[in-house]
This record gives sequence, structure tokens and C-alpha cells, in this order.
Amino acid sequence: MLDHETRPSGFEFTFETILDSTAAPRRLPDDEDSESLTSNAREFPERFGRTYHAYKDGAYVFPNDSNEQARMEYLGQKIIGEILDGRLHLAPFSRGRPPKRVLDVATGTGDWVTQMGDRYPTAYVEGIDLSPIQPMIVPPNVQFFVQDASEPWHYRQPFDFIHTRMTLGSFSDFKKEVIQQAFDTLEPGGWLESLDANGLYQSDDGTLDPDGPLGRWTRDVNAASKMIGKPLSVAHKLKTWFEEVGFVDVHEQEFKLPMNGWPSDPFWSGIGKMSERNLLHGLDGFSLGLLHTAFGRTPEQVRVALVDVRRDIQNTSIHGYQLLYVVWGRKPG
Ligand SMILES: C[S@@+](CC[C@H](N)C(=O)[O-])C[C@H]1O[C@@H](n2cnc3c(N)ncnc32)[C@H](O)[C@@H]1O
Repeated sequence: MLDHETRPSGFEFTFETILDSTAAPRRLPDDEDSESLTSNAREFPERFGRTYHAYKDGAYVFPNDSNEQARMEYLGQKIIGEILDGRLHLAPFSRGRPPKRVLDVATGTGDWVTQMGDRYPTAYVEGIDLSPIQPMIVPPNVQFFVQDASEPWHYRQPFDFIHTRMTLGSFSDFKKEVIQQAFDTLEPGGWLESLDANGLYQSDDGTLDPDGPLGRWTRDVNAASKMIGKPLSVAHKLKTWFEEVGFVDVHEQEFKLPMNGWPSDPFWSGIGKMSERNLLHGLDGFSLGLLHTAFGRTPEQVRVALVDVRRDIQNTSIHGYQLLYVVWGRKPG
């Protein structure tokens, strides 16, 4: 049976009754508010030919349309899936030692949650996001809620595993809004895991010219993300923040994620080729809202500049990469 909680700010959008006809309908204290919130959250505003989340409109500057959803799933399943060798997490859970209650913060399409629900059928797995873009038919132990994770979390029951993935540019203070709230919401002995990549492309051999198109774009999006108060490149700080908040047994794994197939190693070259595809697919969405909000650039200005950035991304004589971190730690107890 799924847990039943009241949520001052979130609301449910999984149709659990399809799969669990015994489950009681779940309502917020004020049903009318809940219904209007549900329909409003689905009225995605359109800008620059893309759609964006409606709940807390403007809080997150990247799109939520099918293009972006496909990109997120490709990144999660193919690229991260390969890098982690098919593992969904590095925190010490397994089929023999499954988690009981799992929360995925800023879940996107809910792909990770759905896979976790399948892998651990005895666990309850919940995903929260600003956008109701998750599938309606999911394993019976899975639920999704529209919720702004930067607001105070209200859970009656603690979780034993909280997870975040690729949330760069989503939070103004990841340490306070996510790591601290996760610490407070975990049971003693529970684990928090965060996987994130800095939105900063660099090279070790000088082949990425900081004043070339890709170098300028990288600088611009990072400056823009700071200007709007949602920094893109904080992944290298995660381990320190976990420890400062009070997590113990904190582990960090760092990976260099190549931006195209330049590495000589076949495994990393393969990852790089997928990364190039992902980056080319996402470039428009990463740039439009962010550079418009921060610098007032028009879609035309942004798209013209992206022509040369695309050329750099596909140039294998530029040995660019971004740093990807997986950090996991345990709440004492
Ligand atoms: C790049 S996507 C990553 C999604 C997913 N974690 C994955 O790995 O596929 C970032 C997600 O964060 C969500 N998000 C941004 N700000 C948020 C907030 N304050 N509360 C909840 N979700 C948020 C966005 O709606 C988006 O779906």
C-alpha cells in the first residue's frame, strides 16, 4: 500500500487507481485548489517555440517539451547508464538490501523513479518536479507529485534514500534547499546521492579556445546562470556541502565527460559521441530562456551564435569535456 500524506504545496498526478484499485483517492486539504492547481500546472507556457513548466512559471529556465524529455531520457539511460555500468545508484543498496522509501528530487520524466520501482518492488518510490511530464502508467509502488523542491518539505514519514540527478541550474542554494532538507527528511542511517555535471566545458591541452565560439558560449551560460541566481556549475562543491550538513561516509566519484568522440579510448569515445548528440539536441533549449532572461538576447541572436558553437561541438580536434560527479553520503545513526 502506498503511503498517504497531505501536501501543502504538492499535488498528485499519478493515476495510481489504474494499477491499484484499492488505493484511496488522495486529496489535498482543499480539493478545489488541488484541481485548479492540477490543470494550471499542465498549461505549459510557450516561448521561443518551446514549452516551459507552468507551476511556479519562470523558476526554471529550461524547456519541458517532448524534445527536452527525449534528451533527458537519452542522457539518463544511455550516457549515465553506460558510465555507471547499468547501476541506478552508487549508495549501498541492492536487491538483497533494498531501500524502503525513496525520493527523487527534480525527477524530470521520472525515468529513474520508474526504473527504481521495477528494481525494488518492495520499496515505495516517489518523484517530485515542477512539471507533470511523467508517464501515467507506472509500477504500483511509484508515485509522482508536482512540487517545488526549493520550498520547505513536509513528509510525515522519513525516507531511507533520497536522490538527485542533473539538477544543475535548478536551485539557488542547493546546500540549503536540497542537501539540508534531505538530511532532515532521511531516517538515521539513510543515504543521499547526487549526480551532477558542471555546465563548464574545458580542455587540458588548450584545444578549447576560451575566446572561440564554444568557449564564449560556456562563459556566457555560466555567467547568465549566476546572474539569475541558479548557478550551473556547483557539482564540485557537493562533497564538501554533504559533509558540512552532517553526512558521514561521504564518497565522491569524478568522471570526465567528453563532449564528442575525441578520446582514443573506445569506451570514452563512445560516451563522447553520445554526449555530442545530447549536447547538439539540447543546445537550443539550454540557451534560449537562460540567455534571454539574463541578457535580454533575442531568439534570433541566440540561434545565430549557436551555429558556430555547434561546429565546435562536432570538432574532434577540440578535446573538450565537462566534469561529472557522483556524491553519496549517510545520515549518522
Ligand atoms: C535536467 S532535468 C533532470 C531531470 C532528472 N533528474 C533526470 O536526471 O533525468 C532538471 C529537472 O529539474 C526540475 N526542477 C527545476 N527546479 C525545480 C524545483 N525547484 N523543484 C522541483 N523540480 C525542479 C525541472 O522541472 C527538470 O525536470
